[in-house]
Amino acid sequence: MTAAASLVDSFGRVHTDLRISVTDRCNLRCTYCMPLEVVFKPREELLTFEEITRVAGVAATLGIRTIRLTGGEPLMRRDLPELVRQLVAVPGIEEVAITTNGLLLAEQAADLRAAGLARLNVSLDSLTAHGFERIARRPGLDRVLAGLEAAKREGFAQIRINAVSIKGLTEAEIVPLTRFCRREGFHLRFIEFMPLDGEESWDTSQVLSGAEVRKLLERDIGPLVAENADHPGQPAIDYRWVDGGRVGFINPVSRPFCDRCDRLRLTADGQVRNCLFSTVEWDARSLLRGGGDDTSIATLIRDCVAAKRAAHGIDTPTFARPARAMYQIGG
Ligand code: 5AD
Ligand code: SF4
Repeated sequence: MTAAASLVDSFGRVHTDLRISVTDRCNLRCTYCMPLEVVFKPREELLTFEEITRVAGVAATLGIRTIRLTGGEPLMRRDLPELVRQLVAVPGIEEVAITTNGLLLAEQAADLRAAGLARLNVSLDSLTAHGFERIARRPGLDRVLAGLEAAKREGFAQIRINAVSIKGLTEAEIVPLTRFCRREGFHLRFIEFMPLDGEESWDTSQVLSGAEVRKLLERDIGPLVAENADHPGQPAIDYRWVDGGRVGFINPVSRPFCDRCDRLRLTADGQVRNCLFSTVEWDARSLLRGGGDDTSIATLIRDCVAAKRAAHGIDTPTFARPARAMYQIGG
């Protein structure tokens, strides 16, 4: 990649990954992400598939190589496989992946696969109906499990499961979830709870660290060996058991990986963000709808990258939460 065609920020970080949120709607209400009562964006404020693909096309000319579709719940966006098809066809894009809660996956797995979707991350925090509803505040476990089965059947490889760890809420889920993923061949990753919940009740005391989860797993399942101490751009630290199976930890709070961040974000309403915790956004939608040319979109993306801060600073006294919660940003 030439210097002119790469998105390098003022700390030398090269950006190759674009997270695109396609909707703020969701069929669950996970405590760590959404408030119970939500007002969603009106449809006309969301980017169309054509607008999303245009931004992705410009981003690809600047060095973006991978795309991950997120939400809210991305499978709630009508005809999502069609968007996947369009993004896969963008010159320069090497991989399109998705992060979903899995509720609608059984119905859509085949179409997504046919559209060229490369990889799947499924969010799952509990294997009991009661635990699931305590965290997601709506039922749906059976549908997620059916979705995972369908994804396997369709031939998706390396299916990942994301589980958020929260003190006083998820401890009892950790070992059963790990045993299940080991048995089924899913790559489970525990994610530390970040201050992006819709009800703004996050507090450091609720953070169940990756190290604490690992200790629990070693006690109940067996010793773990580190697989990749540091992988560029990969926030997860992976471990494996000598007798088989892996588990990963994404520790944004206890061990921030901002220094290796290669991500940009596009919200469902067309704002470009350089961080989950950005308090500033770059308005691509106005350009798209105001007759802006591709050069102006490229400049906007470059400006956004140039303004990226060194780190999220969750652990600093001046940290301020972004105005938007996870479901409005995209994971
Ligand atoms: N902290 C950590 N992870 C979160 N996710 C959603 N909200 C939070 C939060 N506050 C995770 C979900 C999903 C991904 C998009 O982000 O588990 O897998
Ligand atoms: Fe929905 Fe995902 Fe947020 Fe849960 S984490 S409420 S599944 S968008």
